[in-house]
Amino acid sequence: MTNIKKICCIGAGYVGGPTMSVIAKKCPDIQVTVVDLNEARIAAWNDEDVNNIPIYEPGLSDVVAEARGRNLFFSTDVEKAIDEADMVFISVNTPTKTYGAGKGQAADLKWIELCARQIAQVAKSDKIIVEKSTLPVRTAEALKDILHNTGNGVKFQILSNPEFLAEGTAMEDLDAPDRVLIGGDSTLEGQEAVQALVDVYANWVPRERILTTNVWSSELSKLTANAFLAQRVSSINSLSELCERTEADITEVARAIGTDSRIGPKFLKASVGFGGSCFQKDILNLVYIARSYGLQEVADYWEQVIIMNDHQKRRFANKIIQTSYNTVNGKKIAFLGWAFKKDTNDTRESAAIYVADHLLNEQAQVAVYDPKVEANQVYGDLNYLRTRDAEENKAGVSVFDDPYEACKGAHAIAVLTEWDEFKDYDWQRIYDSMLKPANVFDGRNLLDSKKLRAIGFNVKTIGSSL
Ligand code: NAD
Ligand code: UGA
Repeated sequence: MTNIKKICCIGAGYVGGPTMSVIAKKCPDIQVTVVDLNEARIAAWNDEDVNNIPIYEPGLSDVVAEARGRNLFFSTDVEKAIDEADMVFISVNTPTKTYGAGKGQAADLKWIELCARQIAQVAKSDKIIVEKSTLPVRTAEALKDILHNTGNGVKFQILSNPEFLAEGTAMEDLDAPDRVLIGGDSTLEGQEAVQALVDVYANWVPRERILTTNVWSSELSKLTANAFLAQRVSSINSLSELCERTEADITEVARAIGTDSRIGPKFLKASVGFGGSCFQKDILNLVYIARSYGLQEVADYWEQVIIMNDHQKRRFANKIIQTSYNTVNGKKIAFLGWAFKKDTNDTRESAAIYVADHLLNEQAQVAVYDPKVEANQVYGDLNYLRTRDAEENKAGVSVFDDPYEACKGAHAIAVLTEWDEFKDYDWQRIYDSMLKPANVFDGRNLLDSKKLRAIGFNVKTIGSSL
């Protein structure tokens, strides 16, 4: 039986940081070291003031404050942490490839491979390697190959333990997960490794919620869980457009559908489109995998989820333009929210980026306010698209740290993120400071549209013809 005493996690990002903090909190006897190549990120994790840690996630700073320096450490010394650990989690980024074969769809596994090579080079004792990153099915095969061919004769077991946390609720999700999934080899050594990881989670997760499978089922379940979730959002968003034409109301339709216990109420909130670092990337990857096995229909089926999502973002931007007498040229359009959802500072693949890009093509002046996103992030996101040069993005976009200033003199307000604070603003004050007609485009169906209409706003929501 393997008793885990030291864990190393490679990658101190949105997954590595919160997951390891919770393991450290729940397992005081295990020493957990989170390592990253990014020095600035590690410095921020080690910042004396826990409010400065690099990831905003409700409840995370308290856990870091409790465990850091006790049995939770953040370091750039990757080799030392690997060398000392019994178990190494790989939690590095696996973005969509931007070059070469599979460009725009396949997962870029170069960071995963780098980790494997580094582990192989450094390890002097047997180790359990855990895939925490979301990976294409059969990645463990490649990992095994690298580890066993370049290693120093030490033995490795490879487990798949995908993470299902959602940003914004990561700490609750980690504290009480619906399930923990662990895939391993059916050999005796494989099963011992599975048991070692089960024992870690069993410190706080009820045993019946810890599912064990073979490695391939585990790898594939992660990609497909995200595909199913995203599919629900695209399904409800496709119906939102139909509602807008037929006087049906998407909120009512969602409730009517969701009360069927076979369907359930969650993930049926119509929106400006899903964002985040994973849904799009993982579905594209699934599409790529299906195509590479020659499964054309399977690939087309899942690709439609992405096509629908792109359509929803574009449709939202077009609605702003059409309502603004078909031109937004020189008009100030205030964005409330830039993050891809509330309670996170993550902006990866946020719908706001694409809506802004479309409006900038029409020469709008975009004014952004988000409670947790800094100006350089907003510009970085737009520059990354390479639609126009950085100077033009700077000229077309201004970022505010006061929502009232962002909205002052605007022709329209677009709600892109469902931050709770937006509901409680002084909307009369905002109305008074705007140009008339004062339009509000609520991409999250967040605001009280009745109240806003009573003030004088022209309000457009998602999935209602009003
Ligand atoms: P992230 O970009 O926030 O963090 C990854 C970190 O890994 C970065 O800080 C990077 O510097 C570091 N890194 C990359 N290569 C390295 C190396 N060779 N050595 C040391 N450090 C290295 O990414 P994330 O959001 O935490 O996602 C990580 C993985 O988890 C992805 O595969 C993602 O699909 C998956 N996932 C993410 C979420 C989420 O909510 N963000 C949820 C479940 C699963
Ligand atoms: C998602 C999954 O929910 C997690 O289980 C998974 O671990 C994670 O991806 C991952 O692999 O990275 P996340 O992207 O953090 O988590 O956030 P979600 O709550 O799933 O939201 C994704 C996007 O869908 C957001 O833009 C959100 O606003 C949108 N959404 C979600 C809707 O538009 N409507 C809904 O009803 C639900």
